[in-house]
Amino acid sequence: MNAEKLALNLASIVLLIFFALILYGAYVKNIDLPTCIVNVKPFDKERVVQVSENKYEIYYIARQFSFFPMEVKIPRNSTVDIYLTSPDVTHGFHIEGTNVNLMAIPGAVTYYRVKFKEPGKYRIVCHEYCGLGHQNMMSWIIVE
Ligand code: CUA
Repeated sequence: MNAEKLALNLASIVLLIFFALILYGAYVKNIDLPTCIVNVKPFDKERVVQVSENKYEIYYIARQFSFFPMEVKIPRNSTVDIYLTSPDVTHGFHIEGTNVNLMAIPGAVTYYRVKFKEPGKYRIVCHEYCGLGHQNMMSWIIVE
């Protein structure tokens, strides 16, 4: 086997490994990409909706320089559908201790589903510079 063939074969194997890892992430670990959704209109009021036992929807407004609602209490093992929008500028939205990492975009709604298995105080921080109060922009989810 010459060197070129060897290089091609190695590249193919690496690609196959990447592809397998993507499938593993998607189907075994249930890792999903945050999505910008079009069937929910941008909203101007934050709210928390209990859909059923252990199932919630939280509609977050990210506004200079806070997230609304500022604090939400839910029981452990809750599944939460997060809807996020912004009335002013682009903000970041990361729930520490989870893999939730979204952008709040004016005129759009981003969505992600997360399950809170462990009780605790989860801090939400803004990770996109949005003005003078950026570093103080946060909110909490308390899992009891
Ligand atoms: Cu909002 Cu930085």
